[in-house]
Amino acid sequence: MGGSDAGERVALVTGAASGLGQEFCVALAAQGRRVAGLDIADLAETEQRIAAAGGAGRFLGVTVDVTDPAAVTAAVDKIAEHHAGLHIVVNNAGIYPSIAFEDTTLDDWRRIMRLNLEGPFLVTQAALPHLRAAGWGRVVNIVSAVVFLGPPDMVAYTTSKAGLVGFTRALASAVGHEGITVNAIAPGLTRTRTAERTVGADGGFDRVRALQVVPDVEEPRDLVSTLLYVCDEGSGFLTGQTINVDGGSAKH
Ligand SMILES: NC(=O)c1ccc[n+]([C@@H]2O[C@H](COP(=O)([O-])OP(=O)(O)OC[C@H]3O[C@@H](n4cnc5c(N)ncnc54)[C@H](O)[C@@H]3O)[C@@H](O)[C@H]2O)c1
Repeated sequence: MGGSDAGERVALVTGAASGLGQEFCVALAAQGRRVAGLDIADLAETEQRIAAAGGAGRFLGVTVDVTDPAAVTAAVDKIAEHHAGLHIVVNNAGIYPSIAFEDTTLDDWRRIMRLNLEGPFLVTQAALPHLRAAGWGRVVNIVSAVVFLGPPDMVAYTTSKAGLVGFTRALASAVGHEGITVNAIAPGLTRTRTAERTVGADGGFDRVRALQVVPDVEEPRDLVSTLLYVCDEGSGFLTGQTINVDGGSAKH
């Protein structure tokens, strides 16, 4: 990018109060970027981690439900005004409940699709005018290795993340000529507080580790280098892809 520098790019991360989203905010801020986080939960812990790493003033936390269209538009515009632009969108907020298919209610199905699919649609659509104005952008969708593995107790979740892979591919085609790339990153089971409480509990981490060729439990920091690579100034030819980072459980 002639005359540009990574530190000038402003990043927005959804689901930034905890887990992967918090880790991504800390890593992006450590590159000198201005970062904004959206979450329904309190974002103070994320702000504190960034400040403790020397990034005080680089982070703006906005409490918002990413499934609320008007609130999303207002939040995105506020971020672009506060940070004087917007270039990177990381659609990370998501839920991943294990529910047997026969027990899945229509309400479960809609709740999962709403956050995991409508959320990225709304946030990306609100953000795109700002990326277009900059003539440069990176949209990164956090999906899951379940799109390759298809676990039996996660039919709704797998469907939502496979939908996000389709979103990634088609949107990449729609905005490629504008200097904007769209990619997906697929983590395996990763040790976040939510995963420890849910799918990782009762030996879940050990069961997944046994499927991996890397014999360790995946940690949020294991996703960071891939995120930074996708967002890099030099990654303009990488688009429409789903990068699987799951310790080798799925090889595609
Ligand atoms: N942890 C894993 O094992 C794993 C594996 C593969 C994919 N993923 C995906 O990675 C993403 C993050 O997972 P995590 O483990 O860090 O989860 P997490 O629960 O730690 O973080 C998700 C964040 O999203 C926020 N959120 C929930 N609903 C929201 C809403 N309506 N509006 C705004 N924010 C909302 C939550 O408050 C939370 O801070 C998810 O999309 C998940 O599907 C996680």
